[in-house]
Amino acid sequence: MPVTEFTSNQLYTALKQVKLGGTTCLFTPEKCQEITPIINQINHIKKEKNAIILAHSYISPEIIIGVSDFVGDSYELSKFAADSSCDMILFCAVKFMADTAKILSPNKTVIIPSKLNGCSLADSITGEDVQKLRKQYSEYTFVCYINTTAEVKAACDVCVTSSNVYSIIEKIPNDKIYFLPDRLMGENVIQFLEAKGIHKDIKLWDGTCYVHEEYDPDMITYLRQMHKGIHIVSHPECRSEVINSSDFVGSTSQMMQYVKKTEAPAYFMLTECGLTSRLQTEVPEKTFVGSCTMCKYMKSNSLEHILKALQNPDPEDIIEIDPTTIKKAKHCISEMFRYVG
Ligand code: 13P
Ligand code: SF4
Repeated sequence: MPVTEFTSNQLYTALKQVKLGGTTCLFTPEKCQEITPIINQINHIKKEKNAIILAHSYISPEIIIGVSDFVGDSYELSKFAADSSCDMILFCAVKFMADTAKILSPNKTVIIPSKLNGCSLADSITGEDVQKLRKQYSEYTFVCYINTTAEVKAACDVCVTSSNVYSIIEKIPNDKIYFLPDRLMGENVIQFLEAKGIHKDIKLWDGTCYVHEEYDPDMITYLRQMHKGIHIVSHPECRSEVINSSDFVGSTSQMMQYVKKTEAPAYFMLTECGLTSRLQTEVPEKTFVGSCTMCKYMKSNSLEHILKALQNPDPEDIIEIDPTTIKKAKHCISEMFRYVG
């Protein structure tokens, strides 16, 4: 893996394209000059330790551009973590994503530099909750969204991500499904299947993502009036009224692909604003409008925490999961890979 030596000019050329976002996402030449030394230091230590840095698309742009080796959605990140041959994975995302890397590669050291471990979906349900539900709904296949803890995955049958939830639930032979924890995503799946004439008995847990549940269809109506021909691109964690008013719905990577392959006067991405920041650096010729909605958990990863976690991780930065939970959770995730094929 080559060491990447950035000059502050090179960083500024990439990062100046980020035009939406609060002050944390706006880059001046001075700011790029300030962060270049730490970026270069991280890239050197990464090579010495045979480590790779994976980042979700919601992570701050300076981390994505400066130090990450792979950026993707939850599905792509879990595949990459499983297939990579490094000794150490530094996972810039939220804890459940780093847990998934550990489940798939238990012999690797997996480190999370986020200082605010959480996700409003993953925190909404425990493994014990699932065990109780399984007694009550013993004939149901338990399908969990990847935004869940290792214990919840260990108690479920099949894991899904936003890129495959619709197709996997459709393929599962059992018509009785318990989907957890995202109620809004579950409602979207029910609506999608009903539209295809497929009627399954789908029970839902009442979790929501605090970022995505905020979007409302009035905002879309307003934007369509203000920007003729705008394309509205949404994540399946949004409410069904929002999904029904959108031009495209998909995982964060599918949303990016949609923007890259279509031509529209403007786009509004209904998801965490890191995705729009990433798009602005990759397709600067396209126009994006809208507000910045940040996930506080994703944005708690920083260059300073990455450097500290690489040099001298705190015990809570290192992912540890007991072998029994790993074995059961791995089965649940492997079932997803089997359905995706
Ligand atoms: P993706 O798998 O689409 O990247 O979604 C992850 C997530 O947490 C969305 O809020
Ligand atoms: Fe969790 Fe929502 Fe943040 Fe995604 S955006 S990690 S679902 S809190």
